[in-house]
Amino acid sequence: MSLLDIITTRRSVSVKDMCAPGPSPEQLQSLLQAAHRVPDHGKLGPWRFVIFTGDARADFSRKLADIYKEENPDAANKILQFQAELLTRAPLVIAVISTAAHHVKVPEWEQVLSAGAACQNILLAAHTMGFGAQWLTEWYGYNAKVHKLLGMEDHHRVAGFIYVGSYKEKPEERVRPSLEERVHHWNS
Ligand SMILES: Cc1cc2nc3c(=O)[nH]c(=O)nc-3n(C[C@H](O)[C@H](O)[C@H](O)COP(=O)(O)O)c2cc1C
Repeated sequence: MSLLDIITTRRSVSVKDMCAPGPSPEQLQSLLQAAHRVPDHGKLGPWRFVIFTGDARADFSRKLADIYKEENPDAANKILQFQAELLTRAPLVIAVISTAAHHVKVPEWEQVLSAGAACQNILLAAHTMGFGAQWLTEWYGYNAKVHKLLGMEDHHRVAGFIYVGSYKEKPEERVRPSLEERVHHWNS
């Protein structure tokens, strides 16, 4: 497959459909190199990556369930159990954190976009290796207590939790927004 084919045929694989094996340590390193190789105005490197593999996934997910319970004291056990297994849905999860901050030359917006590009590069690199991947934020991407757990500073934002794993069924194509409606050739 050409790179263009890979980009234009990529589909997210739902975490519900992921299974082991995940990327090897060498493949994980390649995914991180791809994430790191994004346009980055001013060479600020305004992103951080937190890796979850093995037992770390269940450990972090249990902490997510504790936070969820604090904030939703009436939540049913079944829902809490689901939270306690969130990151175990895939063999590898990479949290991409935007560390964008005010800078004299580089607008913060451009730094945030760079973190988004890092997420997309992970999706594409995973797709190239034959893995499925899904970019999620869910509730814990926006929760201040979770941000603290991740060691984030107040101005940091979660760009995404990128779930990566093997899958059995190729996802079906989905309806997409019309390209034509979104393209306009400028002619004054
Ligand atoms: C920043 C960002 C956050 C997302 N968060 C979620 C999410 O929390 N839950 C979800 O179901 N999809 C989420 N999505 C959408 C999926 O990752 C995916 O793009 C969507 O299911 C469409 O599939 P496709 O990538 O094959 O077009 C998010 C996408 C982006 C860009």
